[in-house]
Amino acid sequence: MSINRRGFIRLAVFGMAGLLLTGCGAASDTKNTAEAVSGKSAAVSSGAGTQEAAKQTGKKILVAYFSRTGDNYEVGIIEKGNTHIMADMIAEELGNADTFEIKTVKEYAKNYRECTEEAKAEKAEDARPELKEKVANFSDYDTVFLGYPIWWSDLPMPVYTFLESYDWSGKTVIPFCTSAGDAMTGLEERVIPTYAKGAQVKLPGLGLRGKNMQDAPESQRPKVQSWLKELGYQ
Ligand SMILES: Cc1cc2nc3c(=O)[nH]c(=O)nc-3n(C[C@H](O)[C@H](O)[C@H](O)COP(=O)(O)O)c2cc1C
Repeated sequence: MSINRRGFIRLAVFGMAGLLLTGCGAASDTKNTAEAVSGKSAAVSSGAGTQEAAKQTGKKILVAYFSRTGDNYEVGIIEKGNTHIMADMIAEELGNADTFEIKTVKEYAKNYRECTEEAKAEKAEDARPELKEKVANFSDYDTVFLGYPIWWSDLPMPVYTFLESYDWSGKTVIPFCTSAGDAMTGLEERVIPTYAKGAQVKLPGLGLRGKNMQDAPESQRPKVQSWLKELGYQ
């Protein structure tokens, strides 16, 4: 199968759902988000500055991410997921962060199209797939960088399970994602404070194209660096 044909089929899969592949898909209301708060959450902050940077010093940081291996959009069969690569880069740049991979008990299909069907069904059911492990000593972390691929213009359902599994009081969550586009969806601003009870979401998040992260990760590093700098981390 040629790349173009394959790409077309993949585009068609998303196209049927009315998703915009440029820019991570439309920030459409989902079953989850339709029930979520409307408007801008008070638990959202943006920007950083030196004062904020100073406040971060000495705090414990976790980079938690969900990512999938196997056949994926635009990249063929991969052994390390796009978001996983981005998470490792963020942790590397931070220098003092721990990482945690969000893994489901039941693995998703390695076949891309099968996986899109599984994910579609889970989203329709507003499922909460069971996770394999919990973060040890979660209460020790002040800041959690949370990464995920965009699935059907939304967060994958296991990320909702993750958000609902902890007490987030007093914690700051900084989102990042990979997708077919180069942007966040905008959902994170509403979804994270709604499902991660007590969390403060710090924006902007960073959305990068999965294919670039997979095929040319070093070309993406300056974007990660300037984002962290904007947030006050470098
Ligand atoms: C089930 C599924 C649904 C997807 N839905 C979208 C989408 O709605 N919009 C988009 O831009 N990309 C979508 N993608 C592409 C992924 O977001 C992209 O390939 C991402 O980089 C994968 O990251 P990972 O390797 O960390 O899993 C989807 C991929 C899968 C497997």
